[in-house]
Amino acid sequence: MKLWGGRFTKEENELVNQFNASITFDRRFYRQDIQGSIAHVTMLAKQGILTGQEMEQIKNGLEGILADVENGRLEIDPSAEDIHSFVEAELIQRIGDVGKKLHTGRSRNDQVALDMKLYIRDEIGELDSLVKALLEALLKIMEENLETYMPGFTHLQKAQPVTLAHHIGAYFEMFLRDRSRLKDIRKRMNTCPLGAGALAGTTYPLDREYTASLLGFDCAARNSMDCVSDRDYLIELCSAMATVMMHLSRFSEEIILWNSNEYQFVELDDAYSTGSSIMPQKKNPDIAELVRGKTGRVYGALTSILTTMKGLPLAYNKDMQEDKEMVFDAIDTTKGCLALFTGMVSTMKFNKEAMRKSAMNGFTNATDAADYLVNHGVPFRDAHGIVGRLVLYCLDKGISLEDMTLEEYRAISPVFEEDIYDAISLETCVKKRTTLGAPGPSVMRETVKVYHSLLEA
Ligand code: ARG
Repeated sequence: MKLWGGRFTKEENELVNQFNASITFDRRFYRQDIQGSIAHVTMLAKQGILTGQEMEQIKNGLEGILADVENGRLEIDPSAEDIHSFVEAELIQRIGDVGKKLHTGRSRNDQVALDMKLYIRDEIGELDSLVKALLEALLKIMEENLETYMPGFTHLQKAQPVTLAHHIGAYFEMFLRDRSRLKDIRKRMNTCPLGAGALAGTTYPLDREYTASLLGFDCAARNSMDCVSDRDYLIELCSAMATVMMHLSRFSEEIILWNSNEYQFVELDDAYSTGSSIMPQKKNPDIAELVRGKTGRVYGALTSILTTMKGLPLAYNKDMQEDKEMVFDAIDTTKGCLALFTGMVSTMKFNKEAMRKSAMNGFTNATDAADYLVNHGVPFRDAHGIVGRLVLYCLDKGISLEDMTLEEYRAISPVFEEDIYDAISLETCVKKRTTLGAPGPSVMRETVKVYHSLLEA
């Protein structure tokens, strides 16, 4: 049944119907559609626009539809135009003419704006829980690895030693920011469009604030033209999800490197790896690669919705129906990636010995050797030059700084004493770094406490 048959004389064209319909994808918010309708009729009855009895009949009908969809007794008709038409038609079929009063003082424009907001609000909650679960997994790894040494990189060249806790902590910060972005979006979007009608409000004495409070909104949206055509929150959500995916993708890239034979820093659990059909020795990091790959899809959703919205005059335009599939896909993708990634990192084994060995070579302690000279009165620029010569000397002999004898050191600079060995040991290099935000285990231990309280808040 069409909601708008009255004005039309020609038979419908099946291709047009298919092109126009959204039921195949907006069926996923049947629950939110019914929830919104129940709040709407509750308000209509409070305002005397419906009788209490009419409201009860409609409400019972809607609750019956909801229960039957959930328990599988009612199938959402794929030939309906959209979820709104489907629910209304089903209601009228179940309770008769009184069902035709449901749409009083409402348009599908404010209805779809509401449904999408209710749906997105729930999804933001789920995304947030998934990010939180990942943060918990990362925090556990950090706690267990406050003194697991590894090289820190810049330009993918070994730079200075850090700890695994410190490295993972960098991602912890990124995902914390992701959570706060989700929270901001939810706060900003939480205004209720219902009662805006098609675009210009209605002539019925609706109590929009009441409907808004029934549905858990902070208030009713102030401008009826804006709120039926506002999709900003979807753009913000796509942007936030694109950022989550960017973080997951960077992390995946590192895990792929770390899992390679060249690094051997980690070993992925068998459950999160796959084999090759031809090369028996292979154990591939497909999950990390897929997370990295799917990032592009989520970026696509952001670009797509920005482009869809850019030329639209006020207020509602059918173009906006295109907001759904891409946003839904981006949400499904991001949620799936978060869940799998959390499973992957929490089952991954860290090869502490390989990390340590890697931190020991590659002159990650060269800066500390220069700092040693500075502490003995050598200006930093000269110290930098002296250590440069030490490195050249070592490269030539195929040794590292700690393998040099004191005589060799003193041949290059007489400032060096026996305590140089302690000053450039891996442990010292890391432990001395105790300024706020640095990898020193003493300061990291405090940071971990802060992270715990942030997660509990
Ligand atoms: N399926 C539509 C959408 O997703 C619902 C709103 C339809 N409104 C209208 N005036 N045709 O945007």
